[in-house]
Amino acid sequence: RSALLKSTSELLRRSRRGYSSSANPERKVAILGAAGGIGQPLALLMKINPLVSSLSLFDIAGTPGVAADVSHINSPALVKGFMGDDQLGEALEGSDVVIIPAGVPRKPGMTRDDLFNINAGIVKGLCTAIAKYCPNALVNMISNPVNSTVPIAAEVFKKAGTYDEKKLFGVTTLDVVRAKTFYAGKAGLPVSEVNVPVVGGHAGVTILPLFSQATPASNSLSQEDIVALTKRTQDGGTEVVEAKAGKGSATLSMAYAGAVFADACLKGLNGVPDIVECSYVQSTVTELPFFASKVRLGKNGVEEVLGLGELNDFEKQGLENLKGELKDSIEKGIKFAHGN
Ligand code: NAD
Ligand code: LMR
Repeated sequence: RSALLKSTSELLRRSRRGYSSSANPERKVAILGAAGGIGQPLALLMKINPLVSSLSLFDIAGTPGVAADVSHINSPALVKGFMGDDQLGEALEGSDVVIIPAGVPRKPGMTRDDLFNINAGIVKGLCTAIAKYCPNALVNMISNPVNSTVPIAAEVFKKAGTYDEKKLFGVTTLDVVRAKTFYAGKAGLPVSEVNVPVVGGHAGVTILPLFSQATPASNSLSQEDIVALTKRTQDGGTEVVEAKAGKGSATLSMAYAGAVFADACLKGLNGVPDIVECSYVQSTVTELPFFASKVRLGKNGVEEVLGLGELNDFEKQGLENLKGELKDSIEKGIKFAHGN
């Protein structure tokens, strides 16, 4: 009899999870800005992630089509589309991870900070709703300028009384993805075996790749090569903005990077050990209140913010050079959140 009960409960468990045979807990992921250039391929990648059981696609327009399209993929995640402010609550309710790529992208000649005036308000509105409908969710902030939108989100959550610094992340994974690709290409190493930490923030000189800590180490690169790799990583976003010539910024590589980071968050939530990614989080690694560095992810989000490790003189200089801009961007975000 107990064997029968056991197999019945297993069947029920599987059917609730769309016949998934894995032992992973149910997880709801919401994407805000899901009909956009990043949102659509990110929706695709989250739909095929076996750790996702429910995928909520929210935007101000276009989500019924994206949701219908993605929902036909024969993977377990149940997809629902939500459109407009009156559906935002339902879109968010019960979310474990909320990914935010909502907002305008750059055009050639613009800095990420030029997006502040539009995107700050969008992020503030969305985070106000997150505080109300899913205050315990891990928030993956993609909307630029990340250096300011993360502090805005923190202030909104503080005001709502829901702030947990372990649950707010600026997504800087694309900087790591680029640093890995460029380093492996230049050093002639297999890209899938390469790792490069990237610290600081997510704009220009605030992006600081630590090639001295890259693995596997390479002794074929000159100091000139390292300077060029650093600059290319810092200018990676601009390289794409210019190549797209007015049609937006990185979307496909960003969707990939966003999916990698969200997957790491889900694994951490599910108790998988040793999940480490770089992310822009509340930090005491430097004197700045937010800073990107390696972070260990766990059941509550950030388990541990890891230190910088040993920096060489070039990296030490890069660290000093980025502090002024990053400090200003953080203060701008905090001021906006308080003033509006
Ligand atoms: P996009 O214009 O193609 O898409 C943005 C989407 O956001 C649109 O579908 C739009 O309708 C939606 N949107 C606007 N206001 C909204 C609101 N209040 N609620 C929900 N959705 C809303 O832009 P994109 O190329 O997808 O880029 C989105 C953002 O991501 C930009 O700010 C861009 O700079 C940023 N970005 C960040 C990184 C990173 O590494 N963190 C990388 C690439 C792009
Ligand atoms: C990127 O790094 O690709 C994004 O931040 C988008 C941009 O504006 O460069």
